Amino acid sequence: MRRPRRNRRTDGIRSMVRETRLSVDQLVYPLFLVDGEGVKDEVTSLPGNFRLSTDTAVEIVGECMENHLSKFILFPSVTDSHKDKRASYSFDPDNFYLQTAKAIKKAYPDSVIISDVAMDPYSSDGHDGLVKDGEILNDESIEILVKMALEQAKAGFDIIGPSDMMDGRVGAIRSALDHIGYGNTGIMSYTAKYASAFYGPFRDALDSAPKAGDKKTYQMDPANRREALIEAELDINEGADFLMVKPAVHYLDVIQSLKEYTDLPIAAYHVSGECAMLTAAARHGWLDLESAVPETLTAIKRAGADVIITYFAKWMAERRDSLIV
Ligand code: PBG
Repeated sequence: MRRPRRNRRTDGIRSMVRETRLSVDQLVYPLFLVDGEGVKDEVTSLPGNFRLSTDTAVEIVGECMENHLSKFILFPSVTDSHKDKRASYSFDPDNFYLQTAKAIKKAYPDSVIISDVAMDPYSSDGHDGLVKDGEILNDESIEILVKMALEQAKAGFDIIGPSDMMDGRVGAIRSALDHIGYGNTGIMSYTAKYASAFYGPFRDALDSAPKAGDKKTYQMDPANRREALIEAELDINEGADFLMVKPAVHYLDVIQSLKEYTDLPIAAYHVSGECAMLTAAARHGWLDLESAVPETLTAIKRAGADVIITYFAKWMAERRDSLIV
């Protein structure tokens, strides 16, 4: 008689036939950065995550490195006085975001740091691109995004992360990087980034919500899967090194489709709202984080993600002996 339960009988047998494994090597930890010194300000809607100044960010990176977590994606929280329509602060080489990136790479040369290319944290309109008469301009935004990306490469970011969803930005950034001699700087493209309700805590953390309108003319419609393949084709041709799907848990089918479509590594962003839901339920005693988080991350990997960006990266790394099997 066929008895599938035979292969589930003991820990030893289960570990032998396990199809998907988590590794800290493939986790990326997002860090929110602010100007100042000694700042470690917890994000209310994302407990355990903080807005950090350069010094405290370097400290947190050090704690992660001790636990073999060495990949970070950095986001700035900018004060209103530094915001304008053209997001000019984003390509000011002296801005705290670029300075912190430099400080992290100096203290921990073996870390891998990924940037964020989008105008929203620096824009007085709170949109990822340039706004004119209520419209998000594509090609005019790309000029600004390219300037931002070049300063990030010069500051020492290993990988540039365009999250803006403007058409043609990957190709424009790739050729600008190559042109100034940064051919080794990679691009992790937010290929399929959806206009999602699950970015709420992130926008609280950065105070980056749009002042008017929504992001539906550039971020994808949650109803669409095939359209992600169009974005993938473009990003591959434009020279992306990684393709990202965002959010992750609600878009496992999209992760699987992109995995089947390309041999490039697939990244998945387990976004702020998806993480906050788990923490909130656990705080009510409604589910157990110790098993819910690894199950969630395993599901994202099983769908086909090679790299997972998650606010639980540090938490997982600190528990790797018990939770990563
Ligand atoms: C914006 C950006 C967003 C996130 C990463 N980059 C939010 C948005 O598009 O409004 C969200 C990440 C998260 O929710 O964890 N360029």
